Amino acid sequence: MPTSKITSPIPVAQRVGRFSYAIRNIVTAAQAVEARGQRVRYLNIGDPVAFGFKTPAHLIETVAKAMRDGRNGYLPSPGILPAREAVAAEYQSRGVQMTPERVLITTGTSEAIDLALSALVDEGEEVLVPSPTYPLYTAVMAKIGAVPKYYRTRPEADWLPDLEHLRSLITERTRVLVVIDPNNPTGAVYPEHVRRALLAIAEETGLTVVADEVYGDVGFDGPLPLLGTLDPDAPVISLSSLSKAYLAPGWRTGWLTVSMTPRLDAALAAMKKLADGRLCSPGPMQYAVEAALTGDRSHQAAFRLALAERARVTTEALNAIPGMHCVAPRAAFYALPSVSLPPGRTDEEYVLALLEATGVLVVHGSGFGVPAEGGFFRIVFLADPADLRGVYADIASFTAEYLRRG
Ligand SMILES: Cc1ncc(COP(=O)(O)O)c(C=O)c1O
Repeated sequence: MPTSKITSPIPVAQRVGRFSYAIRNIVTAAQAVEARGQRVRYLNIGDPVAFGFKTPAHLIETVAKAMRDGRNGYLPSPGILPAREAVAAEYQSRGVQMTPERVLITTGTSEAIDLALSALVDEGEEVLVPSPTYPLYTAVMAKIGAVPKYYRTRPEADWLPDLEHLRSLITERTRVLVVIDPNNPTGAVYPEHVRRALLAIAEETGLTVVADEVYGDVGFDGPLPLLGTLDPDAPVISLSSLSKAYLAPGWRTGWLTVSMTPRLDAALAAMKKLADGRLCSPGPMQYAVEAALTGDRSHQAAFRLALAERARVTTEALNAIPGMHCVAPRAAFYALPSVSLPPGRTDEEYVLALLEATGVLVVHGSGFGVPAEGGFFRIVFLADPADLRGVYADIASFTAEYLRRG
């Protein structure tokens, strides 16, 4: 037994070094700016509640009542039956065959991502993710030792996937095709022919499609069809939650559904087994799933209108800035503009310089997997349009100066 005290730092696991979630990581830089007394405008995280959008009162009452009624114990790991029935009925009513047995109530879409990838992908196996991607996919892959293969989506094609590029990436080690539609960070919505092509590629190559449909109800022109409507036999795991369309991101409540094909029975059993280990997703909030999917959804129409207006303000203001280009988003609350950077500069340098100079916090595109020299950055446009105009004016003067300096 050593007698002297060991003082060297305790090492952490190497996987942490591979794990990256830029949306929150960048907050450290913002806090340093705040510590100097400068106001920071946080346009980095997609939380509608933080910008004054209100969680529907009947959902709050349902959760509060569940707590008061003593529903504070553990629940079944796949989730309570009324919630699973409500999700199944919702998918059925939208044209996707579904039963409650093929639904899991999860701790947000985030846990559904973790469960799906953990159940389907072994260490060293590959997953197709869009570039840019929502970074939790690649972060989870870092944890489980899976290998991300980025398929291009192209700004010049309204951020639709480059299908030839996607196809060229598939090897015998590829297991999953991640489709994020509507997309974060681009705001893209895929037309039916693209969705069909993605399903066809998965079909030909034996891939499971993980369909992230968390923004499906916040298309500016109305709710979008679920991917599973196009082919009942396709192996699709669909993910969504109360976070965005029901304005309750802090509740950490979502679901995944497994399409009816027997080819996914083992995957379903595997996800249930993994879900057993975490006991259950947050209890009282599970009662809100039925209330959300069977009750009043009028808040959604108002939310979509508010978002469409903010998207328009964003696209107009950013496209008026010399050296900047922004593809108009069609859903959700994100835009991914780009600035023509001087040679040798990176998107992260631009974003950090913007933060230092103006207190505006956005996230560099390379945090979503696009090349750093592309000059992309993601803006969350949930703020009031008047506030957004102020932010865009600051971005305009900062960018003029930044590009002038070279
Ligand atoms: C595409 C996408 N998937 C999943 C999530 C995580 O959502 P949840 O709050 O349901 O875990 C987000 C959150 O921003 C997202 O943008």
